[in-house]
Amino acid sequence: MSVGIDEISFYTSNFYLDLRTLAAKQQTDPEKYYTGIGQEKMAMATHDEDIVTMAANAALPLIERIGTNAISTLLLATETGIDQSKAAGIYVHRLLGLNANCRVVELKQACYSATAALQMACALVARQPSTKVLVIASDIARYDLDTPGEATQGCGAVAMLVSHNPRIMAIDAEVGNYTDDVMDFWRPNYRSTALVDGKYSTKIYLKALKKTWDSFSEVSRIGFNDFSYFCYHLPFSRMAQKAHQHLAKSNQSELSAEGIEAQIQPTLRYNQIIGNSYTASIYIGLCSLLDNVKENLAGKKVGFFSYGSGCVAEFFSGSIQEGYQACLHTERHMNMLAQRQELNYDEYLALYRYPDPRQGESVEIPKATLGRFRLAAIHQHKREYVVC
Ligand code: HMG
Repeated sequence: MSVGIDEISFYTSNFYLDLRTLAAKQQTDPEKYYTGIGQEKMAMATHDEDIVTMAANAALPLIERIGTNAISTLLLATETGIDQSKAAGIYVHRLLGLNANCRVVELKQACYSATAALQMACALVARQPSTKVLVIASDIARYDLDTPGEATQGCGAVAMLVSHNPRIMAIDAEVGNYTDDVMDFWRPNYRSTALVDGKYSTKIYLKALKKTWDSFSEVSRIGFNDFSYFCYHLPFSRMAQKAHQHLAKSNQSELSAEGIEAQIQPTLRYNQIIGNSYTASIYIGLCSLLDNVKENLAGKKVGFFSYGSGCVAEFFSGSIQEGYQACLHTERHMNMLAQRQELNYDEYLALYRYPDPRQGESVEIPKATLGRFRLAAIHQHKREYVVC
């Protein structure tokens, strides 16, 4: 029996800042962003959006198809937590109208935890094949203004239905893991923006790729040449391109530079215009691959490198299933991206600086998102979400 991704859908905010606008304000060459880090636009969450509303928006098309009673477990991966105790997924559970018998848990390990959630979901389904598990990754990437990280902000959520005999991708059991206690990127509880040692983090990312690949190669018979495509964690697109060149070189690949690039190029397209979405980014990369490659991908092997600062990383693999095209949400994704509105610099700053009630103040939050779900108010320390 195979287990894996039966359906996948993502959501991002309806607003973005073009990195040319940021570059103009900073008097920087826009090519530093467009070419140097490989990013064009970054999605900005509105003040009435958070990981809960984005997660519910991402999962809605899946629930509309299979109904509210089919899900036995909801795993929500995030590093943009809104509460130290209550799992954000419980709000999502209510907004989607899921069955009261469905268990809900939140997972955290920087950008890696969606992969932990996916593997745990596969294990649950393998134990009880009638089970369907909803895995959601939802994050808002935030750095301080006027820091090197600023241009790598973004936001997004991705929802994956995990089942047996999956219609999109069967996930292989063999994985390569790597864990190391490093301070490359972290966000203490008292901060809303991350602290990062940027250059160091890129070195650790590359080291983790080598370690996970070595560990994967010890347990799996699948070699570099068996893969058609690779999905990487995408803090910025250039990071994945560099990493993939390293991996191809260390495997003495005979592919041309163009051939190596073609193995990841379709996975980057959405990230280039959304920005970092932390836990969601690698799986939005998978959506980008499935939505943008017109040739039939059935039977192709895809390698995944999932990285979360701090750090935990994993290399694993999956096979695209026959008939997967019928299960995609390509048109919905493309329409959502096409209908986004561009922000000018002042509008970006206003969203960035919108007060985040931290002391329990009661606030009504004006409507801004075009999504189905929104955060309408905070009263008596309680977040109030509504369906629009
Ligand atoms: P920086 O230091 O300002 O940039 O920020 P730079 O000076 O290194 O330039 C970047 C690239 O642009 C360089 O290319 C330049 O040469 C090039 P490279 O040498 O790397 O090949 N460049 C230009 N190209 C064309 N025309 C120009 C031009 N000017 C320069 N005019 C940095 C870079 C990564 C430090 C910054 O973006 C940052 O701090 N980002 C945040 C941290 C990050 O994303 N780290 C990635 C690995 S860690 C990770 O992935 C985990 C994470 O997602 C968090 C989690 O797990 O939760 C972050």
